[in-house]
Amino acid sequence: MDWELLQQQWDAQQETYMPDREERFTAMLDAVEAWLGSAPRVLDLAGGTGSISRRLLTRSPRASTVIVDVDPALLAIAAGSFSGDGRVRICRADLATPAWLDALGEPPGSFDAVLTATALHWLPEERVAAVYREAASLLRPGGLLANADHMADDGLEGSVGAGLDSFAEARTAAVRDLTGAPDWAGWWEQLAGYPELAAVVAERHARFAERARGTHTESTPPSSWHVHALRQAGFAHAGLVWRGLGDAVVVGVLGD
Ligand SMILES: C[S@@+](CC[C@H](N)C(=O)[O-])C[C@H]1O[C@@H](n2cnc3c(N)ncnc32)[C@H](O)[C@@H]1O
Repeated sequence: MDWELLQQQWDAQQETYMPDREERFTAMLDAVEAWLGSAPRVLDLAGGTGSISRRLLTRSPRASTVIVDVDPALLAIAAGSFSGDGRVRICRADLATPAWLDALGEPPGSFDAVLTATALHWLPEERVAAVYREAASLLRPGGLLANADHMADDGLEGSVGAGLDSFAEARTAAVRDLTGAPDWAGWWEQLAGYPELAAVVAERHARFAERARGTHTESTPPSSWHVHALRQAGFAHAGLVWRGLGDAVVVGVLGD
């Protein structure tokens, strides 16, 4: 398997939705380096193929990372890509309930940072707030959580915010026309074509059947909601380190 090619195809697919995807990763990793130095132990939460971990390790070779996700196909790509790299551990767990902490099996305070991108909106709001609390328990004092996702500025809600969303959708179509990159459905079709991955792709589709039917619960509260939820979860400091139209990177830092 050409794992590097699959990583590039994943990135290209994600970038059609978020042409500024690298900017948000950079902002997140800048915050980590600024506050935690260049050898952090990171939890890449709902990390999929390990996009954040790859960028972390390229930038900070002395860092280490645990990639957690529920999707067996994306984790298979992560496992193939990071095979033999002792800095990376991969764990399958479902963030839908607190049981993911048991599946992870890491003691409290064992991470410097928890990083997540384009993922927590897949959970209902009350679980996002709970995941913030659960992640806080895994961080050492002074540790940091960063979440990059769709989170509007509440000062720009209503028709103004809807205008930004329509613009982002048109931009996605334009990037796709320009690059020929597949959309979400196209990516999965492409992946199912690899005999080595057919079984995990089928398992993944069964796991996410509800999502495919569109009957799942998503949450996209504004960034102020996330800042408030982080403070409620015990983060002494919380705010934004990046914004691009309706998306943002929210960061919480624990007290020492
Ligand atoms: C759009 S992908 C983003 C992956 C990665 N963070 C990135 O930026 O490339 C969303 C990820 O969230 C994961 N995810 C969704 N629901 C989850 C859950 N309940 N538990 C764990 N992971 C979940 C998906 O499997 C997928 O890997």
